[in-house]
Order: sequence, then structure tokens, then C-alpha cells
Amino acid sequence: MAKPDLVKEVKSKLDLVELVSDNTNLSGNKNALKGLCPFHNEKTPSFVVYPDKQTWRCFGACSTGGDIFNFIMTSENINFPQALSIAASKAGVKLTFNSDTERDTHSVENANEIAASYFQSLIKTPEGLKARNYLNERGISEEIISRRGLGVNYEGMNTLVDHLKSKSVDSSSAIKSGLLVKWNNNVWKDTFTNRITIEIRDENNKLVGFGARALGQNQPKYINTRQTQLFNKSKVLYGLNWAKNSIKESGSAIIVEGYFDVITAHENGFMNVVGCMGTAISDDHLKILDPLCSKIILSLDSDIAGKKATYNNLIKIIRNFEKPDLLHEKIYLCDSDKDNDPDTMIRENPESWKSHINDTKSLIFYLIENIDYSYNLSDETEIIEASQSIYPIIITIKNSHEQNKAFDHLAKKLNISREKLQLLPKPKKNKRQSKHIYSQSWQNNENKLDEALINFLITNLELIESAKTIIDPKYFSPLYQHIYEKIISDVPLEEILNNMKNSSDEFTLELIESIFNQTQPSSSHESKITIMNDYIRRIRERYLKERKIETEKIMKERMVEKDKNSVQEWDYIIEEAIKDNQEIKTLQESKN
Ligand code: CTP
Ligand code: MN
Repeated sequence: MAKPDLVKEVKSKLDLVELVSDNTNLSGNKNALKGLCPFHNEKTPSFVVYPDKQTWRCFGACSTGGDIFNFIMTSENINFPQALSIAASKAGVKLTFNSDTERDTHSVENANEIAASYFQSLIKTPEGLKARNYLNERGISEEIISRRGLGVNYEGMNTLVDHLKSKSVDSSSAIKSGLLVKWNNNVWKDTFTNRITIEIRDENNKLVGFGARALGQNQPKYINTRQTQLFNKSKVLYGLNWAKNSIKESGSAIIVEGYFDVITAHENGFMNVVGCMGTAISDDHLKILDPLCSKIILSLDSDIAGKKATYNNLIKIIRNFEKPDLLHEKIYLCDSDKDNDPDTMIRENPESWKSHINDTKSLIFYLIENIDYSYNLSDETEIIEASQSIYPIIITIKNSHEQNKAFDHLAKKLNISREKLQLLPKPKKNKRQSKHIYSQSWQNNENKLDEALINFLITNLELIESAKTIIDPKYFSPLYQHIYEKIISDVPLEEILNNMKNSSDEFTLELIESIFNQTQPSSSHESKITIMNDYIRRIRERYLKERKIETEKIMKERMVEKDKNSVQEWDYIIEEAIKDNQEIKTLQESKN
């Protein structure tokens, strides 16, 4: 970013009134000048300039305002650095940069903007007719072409290379932008020729690169800007500049694969849609969307190869994500397919796409359901591998009720019992790959409660009989259910412990170790019962609260589906919810 002093200097050398007067007639007193707003159509002036403060405001439809830079940004539809560079040249101020990279970035961006205007002007010429016809056939009118910044570059003498030169873009910036490729020796030619060009802007409207589609059946169908200092497919989401506000307002974002999927979605009122441009979803993509919304829906092409790739990619992301539980909360998936992608579906019937994106699966449900695309579940070894790949993912689910459900689902999918699932060899801890996952589950405070109670029982064996009658294994976090079940079985404790220590995997051993490391206060028999009851009450309360969250979620979903569910089903859900609430209340009262 250019230095603040420089911004000040540019500002001091320009007069907003003069600049605005080039666009609209201003009149009035010297404190406030009025005119027709240059940014929207109007008959009575609602655009005001305050000469003293050098600010402006539209009190009409735009309802925005700002200083001279905002004025240039709005009128040229550009970002701050671009506006600054225009303003600086008007003011005769030389831009200085804090570093060479900064200067480079600025000039690459500039080269991109010049190229974009060039492509967009070409599509309006007679030579652009073929491109316009192609787009019109895809339902894209001239109006949409300009709204979405589509252009064309044809093959010929009058190429972008020459145009960039004529606009004084130095050759190094032109090369760094990826707009040119080396042809032979020292001859450079346009990267995109005989193709529709698509602007790719980041969330701040900065033009970072281009996609380019063949006209018709030529291969490759798309080429894109190569990786440059501005462009990295894994760090940019196509259309986020258009979608950002709607994503914030609606609280949800939809990721689709293709450029035209995004354009068609936006043109049909689905404003929270962005595109991953055919590349695998990356953690950077998710981190960009994370602060903007609470729900991220992935609508991905889902042939067999695609499903397998998505499965492996998501597993990898969750394993390395700092807060994997966040992903479980936020990500939902729905399948789309190549022959019936969002572009096609929306053009055929926007309503059907609406119900399509409402029919989503949670991240964990999707993964378990699609596990057989990556593993052959009729093979014993692959069942183990499948379970090992998903096991570390399931334990990152914070809500133990949902975690439990996921284990049930997995057992069903693998066609084995819960008990058998529990006994399958666990994955080896891979510290490098899964550091967050493991540390997170061990340090999960909620788990400490299970550990404390189990520890308490094995150090006070006489209490096991009564514990058994008041707390059922189902109340425990799934990871501990199995251990608790053993403790309350009739097998002598010593035997159980020896067995566990000898036959368990690294994973369970660490759980057991953690249980043994708990410290308990020494106390009289009477207070021991109080302590045990307190642990039990807290574990049951936790279980019920988590169930409540789950029930509320189900109810909300059903409301949205407005609803084909039977009255009985509703009654059942509500009845259960009331029972849970009563139980929570009783537990809380017993505390006092
Ligand atoms: N893509 C790419 N390079 C390719 C193929 C695809 O960059 N050679 C990216 C593009 O962003 C494309 C997306 O992946 O939009 C999805 O690809 P695909 O489903 O093959 O194409 P569509 O988007 O459906 O293309 P169209 O509708 O124009 O046929
Ligand atoms: Mn398509």
C-alpha cells in the first residue's frame, strides 16, 4: 500500500468539485453543491458535494458517499489502488511503493485492467459476433455480457501484445500478468486467443486473472491465467465480488464448479453463489468464506472419480484444519452432475435448483455415505482402511450425540456392529498430518468428565454397582462408552485392565492413560456418593443438552421443508423434546 502521506498529497492537489463537474452539473451554495447523481438515473438531484470537506453523498437510490477516491472507484468500478493511481496521475504525483513486490502487483493489476477493457471492447465489434452468438445461445444476452465483464480475444494481427504496448504497459508487467506466453526465442504472444474471456476478481474487486473458454468444441475447453503473484486458483473464489454482500446477509454461501454456473446463478437471483473453477476446494477457500457466513454448501460435480476425489480432499482438509469442529458445523453438501450442472438446471427451472440446494447432507453424513467410492467394502482389509480414514474425522465432532450417530452410521455403512467397529484397529497417530485433530480431542473438556467418572469408579470399586443403575453407557461420549461398558461388566477389573493394556491400539491406550492420570479428592463414603452423583448428573445433563441442540436442528430443517412429514412424526419429535427438557430441569434442580 502506498504511504498515507502520498494519499494525503494526492488528495490535497485535486478538487472534488472539479472532478464531479466533469460528470454532472453542480449548483447551489458554496457549502453544498447539488446535482443529478452520476451513478443512477434520476430526475431530481439528490447528489451533494461538500466542497469544504471534499466529500460527496448520494441521498437517492445509491445512498453512498465518500471522498475523491470513493468517487473514482464508484464511477470507474475499480478498487482503491487503481483509483489512487488514476488520481495520482491527475494530480501529477509520482506513486512510490514500499517494496518492489508492491510496485509489481500494482502494475500487473493495471495490465489486467487494460486487457479486460480491450477484450470487452472487442466483443462488441463485428469480429466479436461469433462470440456473442455463442453466448446468446447459452442464454447470455449483450446486457449480461457487459454486466459480467465477458470479452473475447480473436486470433489476428491486432493482438493484445500490441495493445498493451500502446498503453505503455512495460513488457515485464505484461509477462508477469500471465497475459502473454513465450512463443519462440524472444517472441511473445497472447495467452488467450480465439476464446471468450472471463474476468476473475477477488472479493475486493481486484482483477487477479482470467478464465477463457473455447468457442464451441475446441480443446482444451478452458484455459486460465497461470499462477502469478496475483492469481492462485486455490485462493480465489470466482464471483465473490458479486456474492459477498448476499453471503453476509443470508448467512450462507454456495460453492459450484464452473464460471457459467456462477454467472447463470447470479442472473437468476441466486446471489450467494461462488465458483471454485473446477479445482479442489481448499482450506484457503473455506477460510475466505468462514468469517462471512455460518453455512457453506458445496454443490460439486459428482461422477465416480469426482466423488472419490472430493472424499479424499475433504478428509485431508479436516485433518489439517485448525478447528475441525467448525467444518462439521458449517459445511453441507449436495451432488450435482456434469450433464446437469447448476447452469443447465437453473436455466431449465430455477425452482428445481432451489430445492436441489436445500436438499443437503452434513459433512460427516456425506463422507460416510460416499466412503465406498474410495474403498471396496466387500474386502476385510479395505473395511479397516475405510474406518481408519474416517475415524479421526468422527472424533473431531464436538457434540457427542452427533458423534455417536456418526459412529452408528459408519457401522451400518461398513455392515458391522458398533462393537465390532470399536474393536477394529485404530489409525496410527500421524503427528504431522493430524496434529490438530488429536490434540483437540484429548483436550476437549467435555471428555474430561467421562474420564473423571471412570477414574472415580475404578478407584472406588464399591460404587460401580450403584453407578450401573443410574447411568447408562449411552450418556458417555462415544469414545468412552466402550470402556465404561467393560468397567460395569461382571469381569473382574484387573482382568479388564490387563486385557485392554495388552490388546488395545495406540489410540485407546492413550485414552486409558489419560483416565489413569485423573486425580481425585480423597473423601468419606458419604461425600464419595455425592461426588459420583455430581459427575453423573453433569454427564447426563451434557447428553441431554446436546440432544436438544440436535432436536432443534431437526425441527428447523423440517420447518424449512414445510412439510411432508406426518403429524405422528412431528408429535414424536416434540414429545421427546419435552421429555428431554423435563429431565434437564430435574437434573438442574437436583444440583441445589
Ligand atoms: N476448468 C478449467 N480448465 C478446464 C476445464 C475446466 O479451469 N480444462 C474449470 C472452469 O472453471 C470450469 C470448471 O472447471 O468452469 C468446471 O468445468 P466443467 O464442468 O468441465 O465445465 P463447465 O463449467 O460446465 O463449462 P461449460 O458450461 O462452459 O461447458
Ligand atoms: Mn456447464
